[in-house]
Amino acid sequence: MKCLETLFLVLTLLFSAGCGESAGEAQPNTPPNNANTEIVSEDQTMESNENNTLVVYFSATGTTEKVAEYAADILHADIYEIVPEVPYTDKDLAYYTGGRADREQDDSSARPAILSDVENMEQYDTILLGYPIWHGQAPRIISTFLERYDFSGKTIIPFCTSHSSGIGTSDTNLYSLAANAEWLNGERFSADTSREEVQTWLDSLGLISDTTAEVGVFNFETHTVMLNSGYEMPINGLGTYSLHGDECINSVKSALSNGVRLIDTASAYGNEEEIGQAIREAIDEGIIKREDIFVTTKLYPGSEMENPEAAIQDCLDRLNIGYVDMMLLHHPDPNDVKAYKAMEKFVADGKIRSIGLSNWYVEELTEFLPQVDTVPALIQNEIHPYYQENEVIPFIQEKGIVVQGWYPLGGRGHTGELLGDSVISEIANAHGVSSAQVILRWNLQKGVVVIPGSSNPDHIKENTELYHFALTEDEMNRINALDRGEKHDWY
Ligand SMILES: NC(=O)c1ccc[n+]([C@@H]2O[C@H](COP(=O)([O-])OP(=O)(O)OC[C@H]3O[C@@H](n4cnc5c(N)ncnc54)[C@H](OP(=O)(O)O)[C@@H]3O)[C@@H](O)[C@H]2O)c1
Ligand SMILES: Cc1cc2nc3c(=O)[nH]c(=O)nc-3n(C[C@H](O)[C@H](O)[C@H](O)COP(=O)(O)O)c2cc1C
Repeated sequence: MKCLETLFLVLTLLFSAGCGESAGEAQPNTPPNNANTEIVSEDQTMESNENNTLVVYFSATGTTEKVAEYAADILHADIYEIVPEVPYTDKDLAYYTGGRADREQDDSSARPAILSDVENMEQYDTILLGYPIWHGQAPRIISTFLERYDFSGKTIIPFCTSHSSGIGTSDTNLYSLAANAEWLNGERFSADTSREEVQTWLDSLGLISDTTAEVGVFNFETHTVMLNSGYEMPINGLGTYSLHGDECINSVKSALSNGVRLIDTASAYGNEEEIGQAIREAIDEGIIKREDIFVTTKLYPGSEMENPEAAIQDCLDRLNIGYVDMMLLHHPDPNDVKAYKAMEKFVADGKIRSIGLSNWYVEELTEFLPQVDTVPALIQNEIHPYYQENEVIPFIQEKGIVVQGWYPLGGRGHTGELLGDSVISEIANAHGVSSAQVILRWNLQKGVVVIPGSSNPDHIKENTELYHFALTEDEMNRINALDRGEKHDWY
């Protein structure tokens, strides 16, 4: 699969770029109007997924955990929580009361037991070690952890959170517990530390390589794109409009089992509960972990945007999967700026990771953007070969905003004509793939993320198989020529 992908892309580059152009700069099959969209093939893969960094943390009340999760997410690192065999109760943690935590900190030989081990510690060469400051020092359970493994050849980077103290000697006092490790200076974070602050720290340590993915660049090796919010999003997913009940649950689980990692829903679809249930079942069955997937939902105009805080919380409650990866405003509305600002607050609280818009075009965007602080990470609009949005797509992409297309196959009631289109069918035959796959691949090569809707497991699987072939420039141009400006819905 990998070799095929490379071969196709190399061939495509030769066809499209013409001899003599550098492959590194070329944008295979990308029409000139999408100058901001690059495609990264296997050979150009930017992000190293070598998993040699482990984020380890102890957190009694969740503050250090948040910083650890940011770090692991930014670095794509594994994460391990030091869980005490005997959990700390509120009474244990009440300091200056002579409680358990106070007593342990007073006793340099205290070694609270840890519930489980790190699997395969030998695979890691860098350990980020996080803890809360307890009376100026690391909790004694950190000593238990450090004495448990052989850290020779590894680098340990401590970080802590505290109410007001600095890191003090809490890090240097740990050195002797893992004397054969290389220790770097520690860093202290406050309770309201943002993801950006953690990113800046990791950057200063040189842990984020220069080749970390660039915003908006589609990576055809990892099937992801980096958003301007710092989160990666899959470039193909499942749309769930009109799916309900068991049909919805089965479709989502079928998609997750087939490697789909992006699920699109909306408050208006009335299926957030089913989506959440399907995801929780897939997690329980070991098919995915929460952090592997990317879930988008949307806030509807009218009463939801009038009372956005409550409506956002309702979405979170109905989904019940912890955080939401992306929340969009479904349509422009008189209260859209207010609703967007409410979403920004939920981002600050860590309940939503990225925010964006849907059904916003040039005029709407021009009016909206100056009124808000956060540039949307994503805009989701109708895009298919009969309605291509060739002016709108580059306008959005040039702002560092990723474009996602709804109705990629034309939408229900229109798929027959589009899938049977003679140009698309001919191209499909030439590649030995289906018309749906050609349309989805055409979108990807234009830098448009696809979320085809389906309740048919065969279609769902087929719609993931988009990376073993590539369309030539000529084929892209033939599909580009099918544009009729024919909208299949009113908005
Ligand atoms: N933001 C917005 O305003 C907005 C508006 C509309 C839609 N959306 C989002 O975009 C998603 C996609 O739109 P959509 O689902 O309405 O339309 P769509 O993806 O263009 O088309 C879905 C139709 O295509 C069929 N299909 C899917 N894969 C196929 C394949 N490989 N071969 C043949 N037929 C195939 C499906 O039937 P089967 O079930 O039989 O596969 C279904 O009838 C929605 O689900 C929703 O998440 C957003
Ligand atoms: C026993 C104990 C001692 C603490 N001592 C200090 C301290 O010396 N200085 C300080 O600024 N905060 C102190 N704190 C507050 C924690 O360091 C702070 O709330 C931290 O961010 C909690 O992290 P966590 O939520 O990951 O457990 C102490 C907390 C406890 C429970």
